[in-house]
Amino acid sequence: MGVPRTEKQVLAGWAHDLGKPLQVIRSHGQRLAKVVGSDRQTRELALAIVALSDDALSVVDCLMESARPNQPRVVRRGWLHAILWRVVVVVRELHPGCALRIRGSIPVLEIERPGPLFSVLVNLADNAVRASDRCQPVTIRARLNGDDLAIDVNDRGVGMSDIVRKRAFEPYFSTRKDSRPAGLGLSECRAQIESMGGRVELESVEAKGTRASVILPGFTNHVRNRFPSGV
Ligand SMILES: Nc1ncnc2c1ncn2[C@@H]1O[C@H](COP(=O)(O)OP(=O)(O)OP(=O)(O)O)[C@@H](O)[C@H]1O
Ligand SMILES: [Mg+2]
Repeated sequence: MGVPRTEKQVLAGWAHDLGKPLQVIRSHGQRLAKVVGSDRQTRELALAIVALSDDALSVVDCLMESARPNQPRVVRRGWLHAILWRVVVVVRELHPGCALRIRGSIPVLEIERPGPLFSVLVNLADNAVRASDRCQPVTIRARLNGDDLAIDVNDRGVGMSDIVRKRAFEPYFSTRKDSRPAGLGLSECRAQIESMGGRVELESVEAKGTRASVILPGFTNHVRNRFPSGV
């Protein structure tokens, strides 16, 4: 019989195994982007594969670090506007025809470790779209509020009863009726954002809609007036 593995070793093992195919998907995307030449649409799809692989790899980095806190940190950075647009692309892919859009201008900011923020916003937007009819608008809005970066996901969907709102962050709590409701989206969002020093807030009125907000403090130093060349 083998030596029993600790939970951290199991986590590190899964993160390690997930990282390999992701690296291959990323490099296939890069090669594809090079060979497609002037076909703009295919090139954009190939670059989206590269960017999404980067997001997923930065989640894998976080998993590896929580399993092995002393190993050197890999820091990937991403522009906020690129993260938000990838969220829109992914959620529209998951829910074709949904009315998800970005509202207002996006502050010019660089985010350290874009992967977790990307995953959190995909979860919040996924919830918002699921709670809405296809024609009901769902918007993402990012703004600087003093030192804080606030990102709101607004919907005008079914909203939450008091009981649902109180339980919404509980792991495995779900009101979804489909075959695979995990009930892990919001509890994961909270854990990820709190590990970044921020918080997730919910405001919801039954039959009127919901606002899920991510608040990340201390962003003043990250503000850039313009993108460096090549972005
Ligand atoms: N925007 C929203 N509008 C209405 N209800 C919501 C909204 N977001 C979350 N909820 C409620 O909170 C519950 C928990 O959400 P959570 O994202 O954690 O799990 P889930 O969406 O059910 O499953 P998954 O693990 O696939 O995300 C949902 O089942 C739903 O009842
Ligand atoms: Mg969810």
